[in-house]
Amino acid sequence: MHAYFLDEPQTAIGGAKLNEEGIFYVHMSTDRAVYAEPLAALCAERGYISQDQVHLSATTPNLEPLLDKFFSEHLHTDEEIRFVLEGEGIFDLRDKDDRWMRVHVVPGDLIIVPPHKYHRFALTDARLITCKRLFQNQDGWAAINRNAA
Ligand SMILES: [Fe+2]
Repeated sequence: MHAYFLDEPQTAIGGAKLNEEGIFYVHMSTDRAVYAEPLAALCAERGYISQDQVHLSATTPNLEPLLDKFFSEHLHTDEEIRFVLEGEGIFDLRDKDDRWMRVHVVPGDLIIVPPHKYHRFALTDARLITCKRLFQNQDGWAAINRNAA
């Protein structure tokens, strides 16, 4: 993971700032035999009751409209939890002063976007990501677009 402000100058953002913004981050092994136990512990601790796995690549049907949707600024009323197993991705998150913070995630990165935090997602030029999504309540997880209000 590396993070920086999107506006100039693109100052690096450290773990302390991410913590202050309510963003949880941890790096784990992508080897299931190694991550299974700490991931289960995290789920138990934070109340994640379901999970699935998503894969996006250049051959994903309707990739462009999907990416357009993910790149619309939005929030959720629950946490958004992603554990990257393969590929890479970009989370842009608004800080408390409405500045964009860009967080580049790579395999082994687990990021938790807190509820009510405006953000958007993009693929990198690698056009590939496989990640686990964890949910506190799958029924309640929906995107609320910023410009819809
Ligand atoms: Fe989201």
